[in-house]
Amino acid sequence: MTGAGRTAVLAGIGSCVPDRIVTNDDLARTLDTSDAWIRTRTGVGERRFADAGAATSDLAAAAGILALKSAGVAEVDLVLLATATPDRPCPATAPTVAAKMGLDTVAAFDLAAVCSGFVYGLAVAAAMIESGRAQRLLLIAADTFSTILDPDDRTTMSVFGDGAGAVVLRAGTPDEPGALGPVQLGSDGALADMITVRAGGSEQRALGVLPDTADAYFRMAGKPVFMQAVERMTAASLAVLRDAGRSIAEVDRLVGHQANIRILHAVADQLGIDRDKAVVHLDRVGNTAGASIPLALADGWARGELRPGDCVLLTAFGGGATWGASVLTWPELATP
Ligand code: COA
Repeated sequence: MTGAGRTAVLAGIGSCVPDRIVTNDDLARTLDTSDAWIRTRTGVGERRFADAGAATSDLAAAAGILALKSAGVAEVDLVLLATATPDRPCPATAPTVAAKMGLDTVAAFDLAAVCSGFVYGLAVAAAMIESGRAQRLLLIAADTFSTILDPDDRTTMSVFGDGAGAVVLRAGTPDEPGALGPVQLGSDGALADMITVRAGGSEQRALGVLPDTADAYFRMAGKPVFMQAVERMTAASLAVLRDAGRSIAEVDRLVGHQANIRILHAVADQLGIDRDKAVVHLDRVGNTAGASIPLALADGWARGELRPGDCVLLTAFGGGATWGASVLTWPELATP
């Protein structure tokens, strides 16, 4: 298929979360927190942490294999990995993922947009397909935030979990179910300090700063993140619906970045979407960063919360700051 009207179509989905469940009570054994506080303030009931020795690439490869099975294909033209927790600062993790999946010498690279990585990845994937540079590709979003959290920081420990979600996108036409609609993206680098890992990059090295353990941990200013997330996801959602020529009333499901149940509800309220239409997965896995939207999609599909023909609105906010939104009509997909 070539030419105008060529669109990226969702053809398969897969997900992977580690086996190890960490409950709120587990956290309360070492941190000054409680199950009641975490549930009320975040909506998280438990999360999964990867076992020692399991890196981001392991979760990503497992989700990727399931997505290929779901799509009924063995090969893709590109593996795109959205992650903020790569196996190493250098090289990129996507080639490792492709190798672990047995995908031979396929093109593979990483994309860094933290919790907005999946939506940014959709935009890149769509551009590759629409331009004819790829017929079919695998977009994986995977993070192991447990590897960068400060074990003494109750704010971040209670929010984040590990996981990976993956989708196969293929060339198709805009009228097909699963055809990806417009994508809205934005960023504000003035907010880089709001969600950050300071150590390990060129900034500190260029100053000759010696590695400091505290700086190697993930840090987040919860309150401003909360307010920015609501504002940006709401605005991006409105813009993408406008671009798609769809109304709020047409939205069947809101799949927002699984940051905090209060953020999801606030976005739904500001958009005028019934809260019940928000797909909620964070109660069982926490905020899985870049993986949160594809994991919520896979979970919502497996549980029958997403039905073929549903108008699904996706929106994310993350470190950078970055944000984005997209919309699609949910297709029939095989569950691997
Ligand atoms: N258990 C108990 N108390 C906690 C706690 C926990 N797990 N985490 C924070 N607190 C405390 C704070 O230390 C603070 O105490 P203080 O008043 O004595 O200083 C108090 O609760 C209120 O903190 P605040 O940050 O105002 O709480 P909050 O209601 O905003 O909730 C977050 C904190 C982190 C849950 C919330 O801000 C949030 O979800 N932010 C967005 C996080 C996110 O989505 N990040 C990723 C985006 S990509």
